[in-house]
Amino acid sequence: MKYDFDQIIDRRNTNAMSIEGFREYLFDENDQLDFPCADDEFISMWIADMEFASPPEISAALKKRIDHGIFGYSQIFDPKYKSSFLNWTKTRYDWSFEPEHLVTSKGVIPALFSLIEYICLPDEKVLIVTPSYAFFKHAADYNNRELVTSDLLCEAGHYDMDFDDLQKKAADEKVKLCIFCSPHNPTGRVWKEEELKRLGKICLENNVMIISDEIHCDLLRSGKKFTPLAKLFPESDQIITTMAPSKTFNLAGFMLANIIIPNDDLRKTWKEKQLPIDNPLSIVAAQTAYSEGQSWLSELTIYLDENFIFLQKYLQEKLPKAIFQIPDSTYLAWVDVSAYFEKNENLTLFFANQAGVLLEGGNMFVANSDGYIRLNLACPRARLKEGLNRISKAINEK
Ligand SMILES: Cc1ncc(COP(=O)(O)O)c(C=O)c1O
Repeated sequence: MKYDFDQIIDRRNTNAMSIEGFREYLFDENDQLDFPCADDEFISMWIADMEFASPPEISAALKKRIDHGIFGYSQIFDPKYKSSFLNWTKTRYDWSFEPEHLVTSKGVIPALFSLIEYICLPDEKVLIVTPSYAFFKHAADYNNRELVTSDLLCEAGHYDMDFDDLQKKAADEKVKLCIFCSPHNPTGRVWKEEELKRLGKICLENNVMIISDEIHCDLLRSGKKFTPLAKLFPESDQIITTMAPSKTFNLAGFMLANIIIPNDDLRKTWKEKQLPIDNPLSIVAAQTAYSEGQSWLSELTIYLDENFIFLQKYLQEKLPKAIFQIPDSTYLAWVDVSAYFEKNENLTLFFANQAGVLLEGGNMFVANSDGYIRLNLACPRARLKEGLNRISKAINEK
């Protein structure tokens, strides 16, 4: 291994959400809550960023840019940015798009907050599948658009879409937008081509535009194949794709996401309403990631594969009633621990209190998720072991 994923990096005093922002996000800004362990003694397995340093190639490029010394208003003018990202999607997914369809955003979430407003009239509705990344709901709520949910079907830890239900919900003429997570957070499911075609057909035949949030697409388990939804519908301009280097290379703090909007009118609205400024350091980080990050990502993939195998064996041995399948993608494990708890137990609070572990319980994923916990496995194995030891001890001593 050229890169060291075992290295434990102290994130204290770096303004890291992971260790300093948990009270606000996990416990509704509740500063009054007293936990048995000190804030800096928690094992943090909640927010979806990594405990690994980004590729050194990116740090080197950033240092060079910092040495330049001028950080004035910037925007992506250099065509090498678009060509490096296009080359990334072509090489990995055999997918190309028109370069002029690409716009950038301060993140996928800010893009969702804006796009819902541009796409849906005030009385129109947004469709999602559940469990869901909570910000899909927050984006609809923020815009006062009604949310329509379709529960995924789960059998022994494997998730499928309920196409009959989706068909019914998409047929509501007020449903104008589907925000679709592919690969899916929190289950990690990589949807097969036939599933994507079916979902796409249902939406397009019912005049439902789709935002395919593909932010997790680069983080595949070895041997898994990902297909961008828009690749399967080359004639349609009704599918917006969101991708970013943030999850893949641990660059979320740089706040730069790629939004591919093929519809000319919508893209025009976007350009009229969005501030056309990018952070000069973010541009360097993202461009370097796409042009030089591949070998780091290959090694990360192996490390994450092994973390998931470790988790699976650990659960079989220490928590045999937990239901878990290694996900096709993401660094997030979605574990059904309902056998160990009463219904409605607040699992986020339980594990913070009893285990000293910060994680997201099922109640944080909109619906269809009670009794689950989501664990972030993008951490050195020693941290993972410590986190799991604490989790199993807390459950087994209950
Ligand atoms: C599905 C999904 N979309 C978007 C985001 C966040 O995107 P951004 O940081 O670019 O706003 C996350 C982060 O966890 C996510 O899981």
